[in-house]
Amino acid sequence: MVRFAIVGYGNLGKGVEDALLKRNDAKIVGIFSRRDPQTVLSMGTPVYSYDTLFEMKDQIDVCILCGGSAKDLPIQTPEISQYFNTVDSFDNHGEIENHLKNVNDKITDTVSIISVGWDPGLFSMMRLLSQSVLGSFETFWGPGVSQGHSDALRRVEGVLDAIQITVPSEDAMTRARDGETNLNDKHTRVCYVVKGDRDASEIEAEIKNMPGYFLGYETTVHFVDAAYLRETFPTMPHGGFVIGSDGDSIMEFKLQLKSNPKFTSQVLVAYGYAAFEMKEKGLYGAHTVYDVAPKYLLKNNQSLL
Ligand SMILES: NC(=O)c1ccc[n+]([C@@H]2O[C@H](COP(=O)([O-])OP(=O)(O)OC[C@H]3O[C@@H](n4cnc5c(N)ncnc54)[C@H](OP(=O)(O)O)[C@@H]3O)[C@@H](O)[C@H]2O)c1
Repeated sequence: MVRFAIVGYGNLGKGVEDALLKRNDAKIVGIFSRRDPQTVLSMGTPVYSYDTLFEMKDQIDVCILCGGSAKDLPIQTPEISQYFNTVDSFDNHGEIENHLKNVNDKITDTVSIISVGWDPGLFSMMRLLSQSVLGSFETFWGPGVSQGHSDALRRVEGVLDAIQITVPSEDAMTRARDGETNLNDKHTRVCYVVKGDRDASEIEAEIKNMPGYFLGYETTVHFVDAAYLRETFPTMPHGGFVIGSDGDSIMEFKLQLKSNPKFTSQVLVAYGYAAFEMKEKGLYGAHTVYDVAPKYLLKNNQSLL
């Protein structure tokens, strides 16, 4: 039995609780939130304030950190990893090396596995395998909801609500399977926008010309009503492909996720068990998925070879 704590209770926190409740070899000691615990409605797990975590050190084997990558994890992962084994889903690709160092600097006798999820995470593994075996890889994201692009749409004047779906280009995927690399124009962007009073053509022009987000991309804008948006995108679907090819052989890994946070949480839980095993083996320090031997993810794995 591994004793888990869930730190932060947003989408991932809920997903981790759900995933752990389905396991018979896990005990959830508690959810630890920076908000007033009485305002955080769990699926039955006791909720404590964040500060209480450090008083319960002896009752917890692994903390699964479910805070946001932008502001929470850069602070929480080093802070908590001093005392606990941890797993986080830090997904700011350009900052992973710094984050790894910051966490590692705090560790003496614990294990922390950072940047776990589907990307970074499982896709990182597939990129490494593709690159080492075939000397190439191309990553395609979607079809799925891009949180960042959806947020950018919602900031446009006259937009009441919006979702942006990133769609991988079939043509670019075919070229990747033929061994082409350094592909441009790999994705198109489809926007579903609920508008207020502002003229639709003005909104569309502003969206398509937004630098850093839509300018230079093939972008389609659909104006829909709020009910359509709610009913069509009730979860946060996502997924994608990592394709490696040298023209003769193809390696392809596909993810099709009905809910991005649900799947990411399941990956976090799997690596939570790995953190526990690695602590038992004395493999202290901060690690990425590249440092975690697959055998630590699943016991009794010999029959799967
Ligand atoms: N590697 C991957 O594949 C992958 C995939 C998906 C996401 N991610 C990363 O995971 C991070 C977390 O994603 P998320 O969707 O779980 O973020 P989220 O729902 O925004 O939750 C982040 C934190 O916000 C806090 N929070 C404050 N007020 C809240 C409220 N009213 N309701 C819910 N939470 C509230 C929670 O901490 P408190 O309980 O302490 O307030 C929670 O832990 C993202 O930043 C992303 O970078 C990684």
